[in-house]
Order: sequence, then structure tokens, then C-alpha cells
Amino acid sequence: MRHPTPISWTESGTPVSTRFDDPYFTIGAGLEETQHVFLTGNDLPGRYREGFHIAELGFGTGLNLLAAAACWQGPGQLHFTSFEAFPLPPEDMARALTCFALPGTAALVAAWAASSGPVRVLDLPDVHAEIHIGDAREMLPRWQGHADAWFLDGFSPAKNPELWTPALMAEVASHTAPDGTFSTYTAAGHVRRALEDAGFTVTRRPGFGRKKHMSAGRLAGCVQ
Ligand SMILES: C[S@@+](CC[C@H](N)C(=O)[O-])C[C@H]1O[C@@H](n2cnc3c(N)ncnc32)[C@H](O)[C@@H]1O
Repeated sequence: MRHPTPISWTESGTPVSTRFDDPYFTIGAGLEETQHVFLTGNDLPGRYREGFHIAELGFGTGLNLLAAAACWQGPGQLHFTSFEAFPLPPEDMARALTCFALPGTAALVAAWAASSGPVRVLDLPDVHAEIHIGDAREMLPRWQGHADAWFLDGFSPAKNPELWTPALMAEVASHTAPDGTFSTYTAAGHVRRALEDAGFTVTRRPGFGRKKHMSAGRLAGCVQ
């Protein structure tokens, strides 16, 4: 049987999608990248409050979820919704996450292995997560929720253009709460324009590692 999510591994243990020819995160620096791009990029954890809701395009290994949960101090659970077309087998998730030694890794992998169906529910001590399995272009328009912060984490726009379309960016905006934000590692002009057209005020910030810039933004009309 064909492996549903073909991946290879770098020497430092970073998974690389052979379908998209792109690593799941910066090789050898995944956690630092997540902290810079997605947490600091959305002004987190400073904006955390009760019921805070993060949504994400591209669940991948679950690294972003674990990093967001690691700085959650309650009350209650952080809410995390993600959209994933090609879910990783639990053993690949475990292998990808092992080098980060983040709290909750074993619980996440166990919950992922035990979950099934079109929406995988992961009820972890600090996080209530729902992972919608399928193409985000079909799944996001059906989602009823609104996120306080979006992690836009598809593979690079050049290799995974379907996760960065103007139509999908418009869906992101219409599923963003008042005062909500997004961040992404890319500063590609067509992605920034699509997010502006969707209603975000987009700013360029210093990128992570060798990337000069990244993008972040807030729904226009809200105080930045
Ligand atoms: C860069 S990886 C995400 C890394 C992830 N956030 C993490 O913490 O490990 C991009 C992800 O987007 C997923 N993806 C690609 N195209 C998609 C689509 N059309 N709909 C939903 N997910 C997609 C890939 O399968 C992959 O898991």
C-alpha cells in the first residue's frame, strides 16, 4: 500500500514532505521558528485570555500546537483548530517531535493515535484541539468558529499554492474574531496582497533564520 503521507528525514530529524518537496519546519530549528513566527508574530502569549482560540492551516506534526500550549497558563483550556489534508501517522509525529522534548508530547501522540473521523478531537490537559481532516479549501468554509489568532503554515507558497489562494485567505478573514490576528513565515507579495484584500492590515516583520521578512496582521478596523 502507498504511504499516505510520504516523508523523508534530515540528519537532524526534521521531516520533509516528498509530496511537496519541503520540510515541515526550518531544519534543526523548528521550535525557535514557531516561537518567532507564530507566537511572537501573533503577540502571544501576551494576548492569551480565557477561551482564547488559535486556528491553523496545516497541522503537520503538531509542533505549533505543543508550543502554543506550553505557554498557556489558563484558566481552562486553550482552543486550537487546525486543517490538515495529509495527516501524519502517529509514529512519524512522535519521531518528528522527540527532539523538542516539549511537555504534552506523549499525550498528544497518544490522543492522535486514538482519534479518527473527519474531525479528530484531542482533549489534552491544557488544550482542546479539533483537527479537520481534508483539503482546507473545502473544510474551512464549513467551519462555524472564529479564531483570535491564525497560524498560516502551509508549505511554501511556490510549492503548495492551494493553501495560499485569495479565496482561502478570504475564508481565513471571515473566520477571524474581532481584533483577531494572523502570522506566517512568508512575505510573498501575492500572499500579502490576498490577506490585505481579505480585510487584514498586513505588516512586514523580521523573518526567522535566513528569511529576511515574515508577515503578520490584524483585521482592519481594529486597533493595532
Ligand atoms: C509546513 S507543514 C505544517 C507544519 C505544522 N504546522 C507543524 O506544526 O508541524 C504544512 C502542512 O500543510 C498540509 N497541507 C498541504 N496542503 C493542504 C491543503 N490543501 N489542505 C490542508 N492541509 C494541507 C500538509 O500536509 C502539511 O502538514
